Amino acid sequence: MTGTFTLGNRPVKRLGYGAMQLAGPGVFGPPKDRNAALAVLREAIACGVNHIDTSDFYGPHITNGLIREALHPYPDDLVIVTKVGARRGADGSWNPAFSPAELVQAVQDNLRNLGVDALDVVNLRAMFSDHGPAEGSIEGPLAVLAELRHRGLIRHIGLSNVTPAQIAEGRGICEIVCVQNHYNVVHRTDDTLIDDLARDGIAYVPYFPLGGFTPLQSSILSDVAQGLAATPMQIALAWLLRRAPNILLIPGTSSIAHLQENLSAAELELPDEAMAALDGVAASIGSSH
Ligand SMILES: NC(=O)c1ccc[n+]([C@@H]2O[C@H](COP(=O)([O-])OP(=O)(O)OC[C@H]3O[C@@H](n4cnc5c(N)ncnc54)[C@H](OP(=O)(O)O)[C@@H]3O)[C@@H](O)[C@H]2O)c1
Repeated sequence: MTGTFTLGNRPVKRLGYGAMQLAGPGVFGPPKDRNAALAVLREAIACGVNHIDTSDFYGPHITNGLIREALHPYPDDLVIVTKVGARRGADGSWNPAFSPAELVQAVQDNLRNLGVDALDVVNLRAMFSDHGPAEGSIEGPLAVLAELRHRGLIRHIGLSNVTPAQIAEGRGICEIVCVQNHYNVVHRTDDTLIDDLARDGIAYVPYFPLGGFTPLQSSILSDVAQGLAATPMQIALAWLLRRAPNILLIPGTSSIAHLQENLSAAELELPDEAMAALDGVAASIGSSH
């Protein structure tokens, strides 16, 4: 087993669940099968998941509504992490929503749609570029979240899609408990950052741990999986769990079978040779995922 990590002031299992895949195609609109989506959430809790990642801009408003319908009143140990900073256009586009009014509205929407008095963790999702983290000050929007925390509407604050400079800026404004950036066995831009955050006890929560909308494919992953009687997706998750102790996983799926498969990755122990082989995946594929 891979144990727990303290997120804010709450211990969570290192293998959690990301709810984004529960919305409709393109994370826009309702799921094709609402009951199936509710069943995935209930199965996650039944399997012991106590960390769920979401946002009110998934759908929009769809994913949080599903979480509330499936799980409210919430188990005492469940930590729900949401994010603000974007809004969806009528065409499904993702647009920055960094003004104070938009941030306050987003927090109120999350509170209402999740059915809670305070949000466990709110990530400020930076939107300076469509192509990953890009420099730009987060002081103004983060001060708005810090004020909402002061008012008791938010318990803890994290950052998403950010650079090391933005994390340093953010830590000067308020406590930052987690960073959620794109990272997986192929996409390793944050290697140094992860180790720096580990030293400071800050959780690193990779999004797209399985490659996102086009799940990872690599002969190295498949070979390692075959040797350990596991699946490539389980190996991708087990690699992340062994990569650093502050990594918390939120793999996304709309399938109960995939959920169970992914959670079983907590039982896998990757030998050193497998870790070394997997280090070669990024080099063999390039950082395309
Ligand atoms: N902060 C951000 O900017 C940001 C961006 C993206 C995502 N996120 C968060 O990160 C979470 C994880 O990211 P993600 O869901 O986009 O990507 P992911 O976890 O890397 O991969 C999800 C994809 O993999 C498939 N999949 C899952 N388990 C599988 C398995 N065992 N075998 C084969 N395919 C499998 C899913 O399809 P099926 O549904 O068919 O299983 C889906 O297509 C999201 O749920 C969301 O909460 C945050």
